Amino acid sequence: MKTFRIAIAGFGGVGRATARLLLSRRARYRQVYNADVRLVAVCGSRSGLASTDGLEEEQLTTLQEGLSGPAFIDESRADVLIEAGPTDFRSGGPGLAYLRSALSVGRDTVVISKGALVHSGRELRRLAQGSGALLKLSGAAAAALPTVDLVQHSLKGCEVLSVEGILNATTNYLLDAMITRGIGFDEALREAQAGGFAEADPRNDTEGWDTACKLLILANFGLGADLDMDDLRVEGIQSVTAERIAFWRGQGLVPKLVGSLSHVDDTFRAEVGIRTYPLADPFANIRGKDKAIRIVTDAMGETIAIGAGKEPLATAAAALKDLEHILETRLAVPR
Ligand code: HSE
Repeated sequence: MKTFRIAIAGFGGVGRATARLLLSRRARYRQVYNADVRLVAVCGSRSGLASTDGLEEEQLTTLQEGLSGPAFIDESRADVLIEAGPTDFRSGGPGLAYLRSALSVGRDTVVISKGALVHSGRELRRLAQGSGALLKLSGAAAAALPTVDLVQHSLKGCEVLSVEGILNATTNYLLDAMITRGIGFDEALREAQAGGFAEADPRNDTEGWDTACKLLILANFGLGADLDMDDLRVEGIQSVTAERIAFWRGQGLVPKLVGSLSHVDDTFRAEVGIRTYPLADPFANIRGKDKAIRIVTDAMGETIAIGAGKEPLATAAAALKDLEHILETRLAVPR
């Protein structure tokens, strides 16, 4: 039985949920892949070894303490790095150093936070190609909603002509609450924060940046585009007034914050903004914190996927889906 050593960098809510889910699936990995998957190290950005509350102590006997950056990768001797640090797309965030260290020495990586992928995607892809490491990122590209997987697997071989996505749970929740329940922006935002899916700084959600990050990751890593954040026009929902909501309701239209991408003659154009849909459109019926994506291809027509899931479990599960793809590749397990 082959052993896979897993290290998690970033040990907040999502990192912990990923650790717990991974430990609960060890029997599955043994059974399906004949692999002994061990969590060997966790590292929080500030304190070295993060608090491990909620994880059973006997499962943590192999965790290492106080390592950071390249030392964390080296000394943990991890086969796979799961990066779950906070997202900062303007600087790459604390995860960038861990990812550079892992990818440059050929360690497979599962990326959950969007920051490094948006800020330094080209560099990370080059590092992975150079070392032969696998770079997986379902958790960073709308998590429970299949996006990159959809274009790379289900629609394989087709040319993607356009993408339209409700990619951010918070803004969908806010617009849905305002239009169907008539509540105000601030009250709806408080509900989203209590639900645990709004960003720590909710302007990343409400101003459209989270949607833009996910769209950019899908475009660059899923579709082979080469876009920077500056190439996108990004509009949020922060200035939606009660009057505009009433107007749309009167017209029988449902507003959504949508990331959209068109692909014509090798040119990708992407933007984030409000679009309105008639009630008969599936997008009009994406409720609460659900997300959805509509992809039009040359040969398979239109495909729509809808996804939700309770956070942080859903994001942890998306990351561990990536881990299973890595196990399949490294162990050449037939699918
Ligand atoms: N804040 C995000 C959302 C979740 O509302 O969809 C993390 O990407």
